[in-house]
Amino acid sequence: MEKFYVTTPIYYVNDKPHIGHAYTTVLADVLSRYHRLMGVETFFLTGTDEHGQKVQKAAERNGMSPKEQCDTTVVRFRELWEKLEITNDDFIRTTEGRHYKIVQEILQDLYDRGLIYKADYSGRYCVTCERFFTSRELGDCMSACPECSRETDEIIETNYFFKMSSYQEWLIDYIKTHPEFILPAFRANETLGFLRKPLDDLCISRPKSRLSWGIELPFDSDFVCYVWFDALVNYISAVGYRRDDANFAKWWPVSCHLIGKDILTTHTVYWPTMLKAMGLEMPESIFAHGWWLTGQSKMSKSAGNVVNPMEMAEKYGVDPFRFFLIAEMSLGQDASFSEEAFVVRYNSNLANDLGNLASRVLKMIIRECGGKVPVPGEPGEHENELSDTAALAVSEMEDAIRGMKLDRGIESVLNAVRAGNRYIELSAPWKLVKEGDTERLGTVLYTAAELLRIVSGLLFPVMPNKMCELRKSLGLKDVLPDIGRLKSWGVLMPGAECSDTAGLFPRIQTDKKKEGKKMTEDKQDTGLAPAEGCITIDEFFNAKLKTAKVLGAEGVDGTTKLLKLQISVGAENRQIVAGIAEHYSPEDVVGKNIVVVSNLKPARIRGIESNGMLLAAKQEGKLTLVTLDADAPSGLDVG
Ligand code: ME8
Ligand code: MG
Repeated sequence: MEKFYVTTPIYYVNDKPHIGHAYTTVLADVLSRYHRLMGVETFFLTGTDEHGQKVQKAAERNGMSPKEQCDTTVVRFRELWEKLEITNDDFIRTTEGRHYKIVQEILQDLYDRGLIYKADYSGRYCVTCERFFTSRELGDCMSACPECSRETDEIIETNYFFKMSSYQEWLIDYIKTHPEFILPAFRANETLGFLRKPLDDLCISRPKSRLSWGIELPFDSDFVCYVWFDALVNYISAVGYRRDDANFAKWWPVSCHLIGKDILTTHTVYWPTMLKAMGLEMPESIFAHGWWLTGQSKMSKSAGNVVNPMEMAEKYGVDPFRFFLIAEMSLGQDASFSEEAFVVRYNSNLANDLGNLASRVLKMIIRECGGKVPVPGEPGEHENELSDTAALAVSEMEDAIRGMKLDRGIESVLNAVRAGNRYIELSAPWKLVKEGDTERLGTVLYTAAELLRIVSGLLFPVMPNKMCELRKSLGLKDVLPDIGRLKSWGVLMPGAECSDTAGLFPRIQTDKKKEGKKMTEDKQDTGLAPAEGCITIDEFFNAKLKTAKVLGAEGVDGTTKLLKLQISVGAENRQIVAGIAEHYSPEDVVGKNIVVVSNLKPARIRGIESNGMLLAAKQEGKLTLVTLDADAPSGLDVG
C-alpha cells in the first residue's frame, strides 16, 4: 500500500510566522491533498521548535518566561494554519512530553553505546543560525558566521559531542548512490561539497550556566541538549518512535522532508548521521526549496523585511494567496514576493482566465438551458481536442506532483483553461443561440462545463474553497473529487442544477489598471480604435523583465549557435542558454548588464537547463543584445 508521509520544518517560536513559513506549510498541504486525491494514505506533520537560545532571547526581550514565549507564539502559528486551511494530521511542539522524553532516551542510548563523549571545546557560535563553527569552518570569514555573515560569539567550554565524523564516508557514499535522497539534485552536490572537508564531531550540549532553556541531558544535569539535536527528532517522535512500533513502522521512513535551503546542512548531514547512529532508515527524500525574497534579499524575521501572511490572506482571500504561493515559485529556486506580482498573477490567471471561463459558461447555462447541465450532442474535432487537453492536464499534474514541479502542473491546468476560453470564442455559443441551434449549443456548453469540472478538481488541493464553490455551481454533489473521475470525460449529469459563480475571482482594480483604462478612454475620445494585436498592461506585466549581469559564458558542444551563460538576477544565480554564439564570443558578453525574461518556464536546450531568456534585437540577421545604459545592479524590474 503506497503511503505518503510529509513534514515541514518545525518553526522557531521566537516570532510570529511570515510568508516563508506559510509557503512551506501550504506546499506540504497541497502535496498532502493531492496524494489523498490519488488515494494514497497520507500523514502530514508540522509543529514548532521551542527550545534554544533564540527562543530564550526572545522571551527575555518580551519580558516573559521561555515557556510563556512558546505558549503565546505557538497560537500565532496555529491560527495561521487554520486560516490557510492547512490539513496537517499532527502538530508537534518540542516542549511536549511525548517529544522530549524520546530525545532523552535517544541521548542516553547513544551515550551508553559510546557515541556521545565529553570534551573541551573552543569555537564560535552564531545565535541566529544556532550553529557552532570551528576555526576551520570560519576560515576567511574570521568571526563572521559563514551562513548568515553575522558576528559570532567566542565560546570556550566543556561539552558533549556526538561522533558524527565517523559517518562521513558512509554518508558520502549514501548520497552518491541514492539520487532521490537530496532534491533537487544540485542541493545534493552542495552537501557533497560540504562533505569534501573533514567532518567534525557535533557538539550536542550547552552548559546550563549559559543556556538553561532546553532538554536536560539524562546523564548530566548540568547540561541541556543542543536545539538542533532535539528538533530533528520531532520527525520520528511524532509518529511513535520507541512508543508505538506499529505506527512508527507504518510511517517511517518519511516520504519527504520539505525544508528551505537555509537548513540544508542540518537536514542532510546532521540528521542522516543521527539516524544512522540510531540504526534507523534514511528519509526517502529531503527536498530543499528556495527562498522568498523581498527585493534582493531573503525575507526573514531577523532582516525585518517580512510580509505578514495573515494580512495577505485577509486582504485577498485564502485561496488566491495559496494559489499565488504555489504557482509563482518554481520549486527549488528563489522567487520574489511582492503585492504587485500577486495582483498581476491574480488578475491574469484567476480573474481573466479561470473566472472568466466559469462565469461565461455558467451564465449561458443559466440563461439558455434553464440552469441545468445541457445534453451534449455528438462531439466534433474541437470537442475531442478540448477533452484531450483536459486529459493532458490531469496526467501532467500527476507527473508534476510526483516530480515536485507543482508550478508546472498548474501551468498545464491554466493552459487547459485558456484552451477553454479559445474554444468558447471559436464555437461562439451566442451565435448558436441566435441561430436556434440548441443541439450544438448543448454540446458546446456541456464540453466547456466538463473542462471546468476537471480543472476544478485539479486545482482543488490548491484552492479548496473556491473550487468547492465552482463544483457546486456545476451541479456536482461530490465536492471532494478523486483523480479517477478527473481522468474520465462525460461525468457531469445532464439535468443537474447549476448556479452562477458571480464573484468567484473578481478583478482587483489597481492603480496601473486605472491608468491603463484612462489611457484607452482618452484614445477612444479622439476617435482612435484600438490597434490590432494590442495587449493590455496586465498582459505585458505577465512577462517579468529583469536586469541581469553575465557572470560567465561558454560555448555548447556540438553547435556553433549557442552560448551557455551564468547570470545573476539579484541574489539569485541562474543559467540560460542563448542563441547568440554567432554574434558574440564568450569574452564579449561576460560582465554585460542585460535584460532577461525572468519568469519563463525553464527549458532544456540540447540537454542543458535554461532558466530564462535574454532580450536581443535583430537587424538583417545580426543580433544586438539589449544592454543597460548605466551600470545598474542586477535583479531590477524592467517595465
Ligand atoms: O530553521 N523563503 O526554523 P525557522 C522560503 N526551527 N521559506 C522560508 C523563508 C523564506 N524567506 N524563511 C523561512 C528553523 N522559510 C528550525 C527548523 S526543523 C527540524 C527545525 C521556511 O523558523 C523554510 O521552510 O527559521 C525554512 O527552512 C524554515 O521556514 C525555517 O524556519
Ligand atoms: Mg531561520
